Amino acid sequence: MSSVEKIKADLKALNAEYAKIKTIPVEERKAFGQELNKRREALQRELQEALDAAESENITPIDITAPSAPNTTIPSFKRGTKHPLMTELSHVLDIFSRMGFDVMEAQQLDDEFHMFESLNFPEGHPARDGYDTFRTSEGFIPPAHTSTMQYRALKKYKKNLDDGGQIAVVIPGRVFRNEDVDATHEHTFYQCEGIFVSENATMGQMLGTWKKFFETYYGQKLNIKTQPGYFPFTEPSVEFLIEKPKSLGGKGDGWLEMGGCGMVHPNVLKMAGIDPTKYKGFAWGGGIDRLVMLKYGINDVRYFESGKLDFLKEF
Ligand code: DAH
Repeated sequence: MSSVEKIKADLKALNAEYAKIKTIPVEERKAFGQELNKRREALQRELQEALDAAESENITPIDITAPSAPNTTIPSFKRGTKHPLMTELSHVLDIFSRMGFDVMEAQQLDDEFHMFESLNFPEGHPARDGYDTFRTSEGFIPPAHTSTMQYRALKKYKKNLDDGGQIAVVIPGRVFRNEDVDATHEHTFYQCEGIFVSENATMGQMLGTWKKFFETYYGQKLNIKTQPGYFPFTEPSVEFLIEKPKSLGGKGDGWLEMGGCGMVHPNVLKMAGIDPTKYKGFAWGGGIDRLVMLKYGINDVRYFESGKLDFLKEF
């Protein structure tokens, strides 16, 4: 008999003893009952311990450090793949790293100061409304663009300027907007921000940097153009367009807007403790989802966040 069964039998026998209470003198019943209860509690404890011990004996140990190579024990085993946005993001960061940019990661919860004030949107500024910004009930902000990181990047790398160098940072991040979702709009998507500051940064360098980036990413020469834009944190501000590459179905007539850019507004530099009479900066921000959609001919941005395996398995 296993110890579990023996304890169960003892418990059964003990339960039978309770029937005797009726047969003993009234004044002894209390002590008798207490004694039985004590023995029953002890047996129940023993039973639990024996059950736990039996259970751990039955567990087959697994080696959680073993490699997860496809093997015979799991016939349907399929190795997962990286999400296409993450794969492409590493290509993007690779290109900018080779151009000399440092990478800083954006945060997924931010505040009013970084979302607006630090970017030269004073309180009540009408452009604040253009960002369809979510807020948590505690007053935090899931960032609506990666520009929320500009202030932190400037502060962090300001010492480069003091040492006679420059600031060159790219900041990928997840951003959130409270807008209606359709094939070209998602409430959650990815952007990559870039910011460069030196004594003589120019708009020409800005456009050259981005042209070089897109040409490297798509592996071909591209036609680019700009159109006027407005962002409180850059002056002048432009929108950057590329002509749809022929290899990606372009007929040479479709212009695609890839993001915004401009010269960093002096107030933004000043707020981060950088003297705008001595230093100039350029900055840009563009969507990663859009970049990847064009590369692979994906026609619906919702696929990225859908968790659809059919879609993900293609990458
Ligand atoms: N943050 C802007 C947006 O999401 C894009 C942008 C425009 C970023 C100009 C920049 C910039 O850094 O200089 O709409």
